[in-house]
Amino acid sequence: MLKLENIDVSFRSERQVSLFKTSRNQVLFDVSFEVKKGSCLGVLGESGSGKSTTGKVLCGLLKPDSGKVFINGEDVYGSKAGKKALQGAISVVFQDYTTSANPRFQVKDLILEGLTVYMRRSGEKLNIKEEIKLLLEQVGLNESYLARFPHELSGGQLQRVCIARAIACRPQLILLDEAISSLDAHTQVQIMDLLYELKEKYNLTYVFITHDLTAITYICDEVLFLYEGKITQQCAVAEIANVKDPYAKKLLESILDFDEHEVC
Ligand SMILES: Nc1ncnc2c1ncn2[C@@H]1O[C@H](COP(=O)(O)OP(=O)(O)O)[C@@H](O)[C@H]1O
Ligand SMILES: [Mg+2]
Repeated sequence: MLKLENIDVSFRSERQVSLFKTSRNQVLFDVSFEVKKGSCLGVLGESGSGKSTTGKVLCGLLKPDSGKVFINGEDVYGSKAGKKALQGAISVVFQDYTTSANPRFQVKDLILEGLTVYMRRSGEKLNIKEEIKLLLEQVGLNESYLARFPHELSGGQLQRVCIARAIACRPQLILLDEAISSLDAHTQVQIMDLLYELKEKYNLTYVFITHDLTAITYICDEVLFLYEGKITQQCAVAEIANVKDPYAKKLLESILDFDEHEVC
């Protein structure tokens, strides 16, 4: 359903080459991959490897220097039909839920943001109050949370609200960029269970960006290794132990090392 083809991305760097020319830093090199409907693709890489940039390109937020993104066969950056196909098709949940949720909005307003997107797109008129309550229930929170502000919620609860907002616009795909990374281990598992349940229920497709291998093995079907802006390997999660690519291996070893230290 989603396809990236030969994506290059660069940002203008501070360095001045001449009076009128600044140099550019390339951060993605010839990135190509496909996400199948109903699957969960993990994107694993060290900090700075280009994971979030890849995420921004795939959800229509950042036009690449070259290359194409297709959603359901439509060219996202190259055609009007593609732009339209993208609308409401992808929701995003970020790591930093405290900044992605407006602190002056109550839980019900946050979820309404997502619902409004859906109603505008579909033209459907919904019973907003009922719908918000239902969505909150879907993420395991009851209606006593409706009038709370973000600072009155725990990290896990607020991330649940962000997930409710994401599913409110009835997307086909949800991009989760380090969505569970700043939660404690116990809450991470709860949120992953919730994500799995919702995926089955609504036949959702996920792109799960993380630097955490455990999360990948818990929820993803396939994993893609990103190293310095290049995809070095893509394989089924079940095959992870047999990866051949040296960068992917190095990455796995560094993560495993780190985990061991954490345990000690
Ligand atoms: N808007 C931007 N302007 C300039 N450089 C950027 C911008 N966004 C990201 N970068 C750079 O691109 C590289 C990849 O960043 P990012 O995709 O955020 O990595 P990751 O999510 O894997 O940590 C980094 O070197 C980062 O500094
Ligand atoms: Mg990132």
